[in-house]
Amino acid sequence: MDELVIRQPDDFHIHLRDDDMLPMSVGHVSAQFRRAIVMPNLRPPVVSTLIATEYRKRILAAIPSGRMFTPLMTLYLTDRTTPADILLAKESGIIHGVKYYPAGATTNSDSGVTDLEGRFKVLEAMMKHGVPLLLHGEVTNKEVDIFDREKVFLELVLSGVVKEFPDLKIVLEHITTSDSVDFVDSCSDKVAATITAHHLLLNRGDLFDGGVRPHHYCLPILKRERHRLALIRAAVSGSPKYFLGTDSAPHERHTKEASCGCAGVYTAHAALECYAAAFDSVGAMNKLEDFASTFGARFYELPLNTGQIKLVRKEQKIPPEYGYSGGAIVPFRAGQNLDWSVEA
Ligand code: DOR
Ligand code: ZN
Repeated sequence: MDELVIRQPDDFHIHLRDDDMLPMSVGHVSAQFRRAIVMPNLRPPVVSTLIATEYRKRILAAIPSGRMFTPLMTLYLTDRTTPADILLAKESGIIHGVKYYPAGATTNSDSGVTDLEGRFKVLEAMMKHGVPLLLHGEVTNKEVDIFDREKVFLELVLSGVVKEFPDLKIVLEHITTSDSVDFVDSCSDKVAATITAHHLLLNRGDLFDGGVRPHHYCLPILKRERHRLALIRAAVSGSPKYFLGTDSAPHERHTKEASCGCAGVYTAHAALECYAAAFDSVGAMNKLEDFASTFGARFYELPLNTGQIKLVRKEQKIPPEYGYSGGAIVPFRAGQNLDWSVEA
């Protein structure tokens, strides 16, 4: 297969950031995706419908003219979120999920939840009003090995939440292990997962390929090859529980190429082509449309997009960096060729 026309896709997990990064991140995402679930881990975080409404306006203002793009906003769950916040969010019509970060798990997560059981009244309200819970599924205890934090989260946290709130819609974001695939498979259709392009294409060896590779450092961290293969199998399985969420996460070059570098891989510049490379590697291009354009919309109860997008097997060279007014971003596959291109 050298050409594929699919329904225009959505990205169900992206970091757009704010201010001087917005023109770049919104420019890239809106070139391919019709909608995106926008993560709330700004500094300070997006903790209320009012803050989300203002942030949404800044995103809308950054959309290049002539493009159709709808940001689907999320709220950041904190120890102070209340059931009333959930009702307001639902009534706003612009909030599509509430994001749980365990405090200290990743970039800008210091306002995250320290005690999830303390938020059970909020989860109850989410279940009642049909607001999905979006999970960064890792424990943060330093005694737990960084490669085991996702698996231990399933055991210590998620299995309890799923039992306590059987009708709560849950998205386990950016899954990285066969354990998560087994877990999600074993749950009802209320529980789904997003998979990033970089976790489909890289394993933990790519963190140390000839030297430390800061641009491959993300959280949850890359795992063993057998886990990558399990993610590929899940993505191409045809199960509606798995759908596209890039977790594209821009960080200015010097904050990644540092003695304590930030976590995040930037894929928004060529997200669909990266997913195509992963699906093509196992001869499953015919499964890409459902993963990218159908299953996520159904889970979030959104209408399917009506536009189309064409992928062609044609080399494209990724630039070494994207400059913006605040510095530069080093994109995934910088300076390398990709086999697939999106045709205008
Ligand atoms: O690698 C990551 N980067 N993982 C996250 O959970 C957050 C993200 C970011 O915001 O940079
Ligand atoms: Zn993320």
